[in-house]
Amino acid sequence: SRTAAVIPAAGRGVRLGPGAPKALRALGGTPMLVHAVRAMAASRQVSLVVIVAPPDGAPEVRNLLDEHALPERTEFLVVPGGGTRQESVKLGLDALPADIRAVLVHDAARPLVPVDTVDAVVEAVRDGAPAVVPALPLADTVKEVEPGAPGEPEPVLSTPVRSRLRAVQTPQGFDRDTLVRAHERVAVSGEGATDDAGLVEQLGVPVVVVPGHEEAFKVTRPLDLVLAEAVLARRRA
Ligand code: CTP
Ligand code: MG
Repeated sequence: SRTAAVIPAAGRGVRLGPGAPKALRALGGTPMLVHAVRAMAASRQVSLVVIVAPPDGAPEVRNLLDEHALPERTEFLVVPGGGTRQESVKLGLDALPADIRAVLVHDAARPLVPVDTVDAVVEAVRDGAPAVVPALPLADTVKEVEPGAPGEPEPVLSTPVRSRLRAVQTPQGFDRDTLVRAHERVAVSGEGATDDAGLVEQLGVPVVVVPGHEEAFKVTRPLDLVLAEAVLARRRA
């Protein structure tokens, strides 16, 4: 049974500031998306990578992948994405061939995830877990607040016990049928979630956490690009 990775890469990258769509911006001279594809293809367990491109950017992404060296044993598909991350992942799932039994969903915006983290997630799915997320303990204390008008002080409602909290990363790994069911249910209910495991939780299916990695951080704001360049430089040293 084969494992595929779906890479949602259709976002604009508004928080990163003006420029090309985030996944197409350079990191160490190579588009972020190419790093993310290589990170998935580096796992010997992943035999297909589905890239969900910006809605009008599929031809450009295909060209990019043709220009950059990728492992020969890995098969690639490029499909156009949607208006939200959830829609983009759904469009990627719709493109999977029938023989795929396990699926990773990995943000293009996490270009530097180490292959050991990818392998650990795949392993846990192959061992029978229907949903697996890599995550790390938090450095900051987290407060729940009553959101107020911008600039106004916000009342604190509660402080969850930090030692019980985890910051979730990708790739998240799933039994294919479970993830497809989760996305179909949300299409009917209209409820969403900020990650794929959140949709699976809404089905009542158990989700487990495995150790994530600091280098699997998401490139979201300009400072994250500075960190990503530094991590790459350290790897190349
Ligand atoms: N994504 C997607 N389709 C969308 C929105 C997001 O495929 N309609 C992808 C992004 O390309 C990214 C991942 O989901 O790889 C995580 O999203 P995020 O970090 O929020 O990226 P953007 O949505 O591009 O950034 P921003 O929210 O700052 O605009
Ligand atoms: Mg976004």
